Amino acid sequence: MATINSNFLKLKAGYLFPEIARRVKAYSEANPEKAGKIIRCGIGDVTEPLPAAVVKAMHEGVDEQANRETFHGYGPEQGYEFLRQAIVDNQYQSMSISADEVFISDGSKCDTGNILDIFGNGNTIAITDPVYPVYVDTNVMEGNTGDADEKGAYGGLLYLPCTAENGFVAAPPTEKADLIYLCFPNNPTGATANKEQLKAWVDYAKANDAIILYDAAYEAFIQDPEIPHSIFEIEGAHDCAIEFRSFSKNGGFTGIRCGYVVIPKTVTGSDANGNRVPLHQLWNRRTSTKFNGASYPVQKGAAAIFSEEGKAQVNALIEHYMGNAKLLREAATELGLAVYGGENAPYVWIACPEGVSSWDMFDKMLEEAQVVVTPGSGFGSAGEGYFRVSAFNSRQNVQEVCKRLSALVG
Ligand code: MLT
Repeated sequence: MATINSNFLKLKAGYLFPEIARRVKAYSEANPEKAGKIIRCGIGDVTEPLPAAVVKAMHEGVDEQANRETFHGYGPEQGYEFLRQAIVDNQYQSMSISADEVFISDGSKCDTGNILDIFGNGNTIAITDPVYPVYVDTNVMEGNTGDADEKGAYGGLLYLPCTAENGFVAAPPTEKADLIYLCFPNNPTGATANKEQLKAWVDYAKANDAIILYDAAYEAFIQDPEIPHSIFEIEGAHDCAIEFRSFSKNGGFTGIRCGYVVIPKTVTGSDANGNRVPLHQLWNRRTSTKFNGASYPVQKGAAAIFSEEGKAQVNALIEHYMGNAKLLREAATELGLAVYGGENAPYVWIACPEGVSSWDMFDKMLEEAQVVVTPGSGFGSAGEGYFRVSAFNSRQNVQEVCKRLSALVG
């Protein structure tokens, strides 16, 4: 008899985005005349084509595979040197990160889930609420939680509520945590943390011998020059933080798949006897065992993001999506709704009208306006009463969403 990992049975519902897709499909089937009108602002999936420099580099990468002389078989599991070095030179200047501390992957969703492989059981896990559901669900699968309560909160997790009152940035708790998930610019609220706020977290992590898992997948959308892009801009972080980054949202790689993890060699955890072990060593071992590297043409394409043309093309994409975010913010503000995010992040976080729940708002937007949003409560119980609108769309669609929003709530 093959037994199962019964932790999976603790998971409350399907993963959030497939669940939304299921509801949208059911609505489309029941209302075929409306199906063609649906505009999707739910999952943060890019809509604009890849930067031309990326396309060219990927074509070249494929052409190399067509010739015996330039063919590449298995690559380094950790990623090609050309990409690891380009990341360090372009993203981590003056941050004392070396190329061999960067691990190329097929994206941050996998990385933020897989990282739990190198940690033991019994850690206290601090998770902001609302939060990207992958952090919670993967901890449930690992057996790091108890059961969920009626609000979907899992026993054993240390939830840190992010509310309008704290600007959606949680301060370090008084309790001791061992692993802390932080995401800035934040998914789903679009909030950002300043240097002082991040320094407080690094100081907390060092004082408590904790590790910060810092998801910076949306750093490219930061407009304010005062806001840090990396946890490694903060003194002390090289002793206590791991950073996740992605090419999905800046380079339009959601369907191409490429991201990376940065683990300084100075970050350590404790074995059962209290000996310090570098996490870099464990992640390297895990990567070489379970991964054969991201595809060569994909890594070529990712490196092209750092070429002069690539940078200009990515900037244009960011400008496009942030222009969308501005329109969405303005439309929702005009309706008198409380609006957050969307200034340094591609997500606009909006309070539902008084007395309307997140899922009711989701249904209302779908049924009455044919606009798909993400219900805030899908990101955790502190997200109840909010909905998230993704700015990843064409300008035309966003203008149409703004119109429909005013007709609906106005
Ligand atoms: C989101 O909509 O929250 C993101 O697209 C999810 C992801 O990047 O996996």
